[in-house]
Amino acid sequence: MNVTQNVPLQSFNSFGIVAKAHSLVHIRSEEDALAAQQDLVNCPEGYCVLGGGSNIVLTGDVKPRVLKIEIEGKRLVRENEKAWILEAGAGENWHDFVTWTLSQGWPGLENMALIPGSVGATPVQNIGAYGVELQDRFDSLDALDLVTGQVFTLNAAQCAFGYRDSVFKHASSGPNGIGLGGRALILRVRFHLPKAWRPVLGYLDLERKMTETGIANPSAQQIYDWVCEIRRHKLPDPKVLGNAGSFFKNPTVTPEQCADIIARDPKVVHYPMPDGSIKLAAGWLIDACGWKGKSVGNAAVYEKQALVLVNRGGATGGEVVTLAKAIQTSVYERFGIRLEPEPVVI
Ligand code: EPU
Repeated sequence: MNVTQNVPLQSFNSFGIVAKAHSLVHIRSEEDALAAQQDLVNCPEGYCVLGGGSNIVLTGDVKPRVLKIEIEGKRLVRENEKAWILEAGAGENWHDFVTWTLSQGWPGLENMALIPGSVGATPVQNIGAYGVELQDRFDSLDALDLVTGQVFTLNAAQCAFGYRDSVFKHASSGPNGIGLGGRALILRVRFHLPKAWRPVLGYLDLERKMTETGIANPSAQQIYDWVCEIRRHKLPDPKVLGNAGSFFKNPTVTPEQCADIIARDPKVVHYPMPDGSIKLAAGWLIDACGWKGKSVGNAAVYEKQALVLVNRGGATGGEVVTLAKAIQTSVYERFGIRLEPEPVVI
């Protein structure tokens, strides 16, 4: 096992924040993961798991040992008359995996094209875009328990998926003690793609594409191309302008709270949810508070999408966090809503 010291992390986090890992281990296989787990006893400073680095804000050098997941491999595990079951190593790039599935003739992941990050991070966040969430295409995953050294398998129910949420985001000391946060190292993820493919087109941006092009029955490849176009137009490319995608979750409110906001701000973007609650567009709330283009030091609110914070070059994690807190305060003061950040602050 190869532990390296003082490793620059700028290219390992999509915000492009400059920081170092005091020590870092590259995990390229299950054997590497097991060896790293055994060695944690020699590591009193603790550890943290790093995937594609697209959902973190680094606020300084990282003292806990960084376990950098680079497990590769993708394959068709099995198929029956109803579905294809695919598997990918946690270190595979998510978008490359989506592209590969389509090139093999296995549709189903196209709405989630171009989401930054690695395959192993997708269940943690329960990533989602344009009407499809990971949980809709999830089969199971294998993970290593970093406390016990056991490898275990979880199905969708055991992952306890919610909106940008899963068992991996909750500490094991939580109210029901079932969380796996900071404890599970995801090795491989399996996906269930039904052969009876149906396009998911209910999202406004996709409906617009259908009207513009006159294509009423798009193929999976066509949807993939549209999603890539929409995302490239709206969201900054992390290679050009560092960012972590949406910085806050879209908040949910009661119908009464929503009616109260509509009475004051009739244009508030809101979506009724199946459980009777109402989801509000956090981007709209931030935009309405006048944040687009504003900055703290070199951290700024993206001009085209207020939900995305960007690194204009040389931003520190502290600047990103200060900007995020100022946004939270102003949204709270105007709308009485507390925005919850998506990325993990390290
Ligand atoms: N809006 C504004 N001003 C803004 C930004 C948005 O008025 O500055 C309005 C838009 O006009 C639109 C609404 O807010 O009516 C929603 O915006 P958008 O369609 O861009 O989607 P979103 O709710 O901001 C979510 C996900 C994205 C995902 C898109 C598409 C969350 C936190 N974000 O964004 O996911 O790509 O929907 O499905 O749920 C991510 O999580 O990192 C991410 C990019």
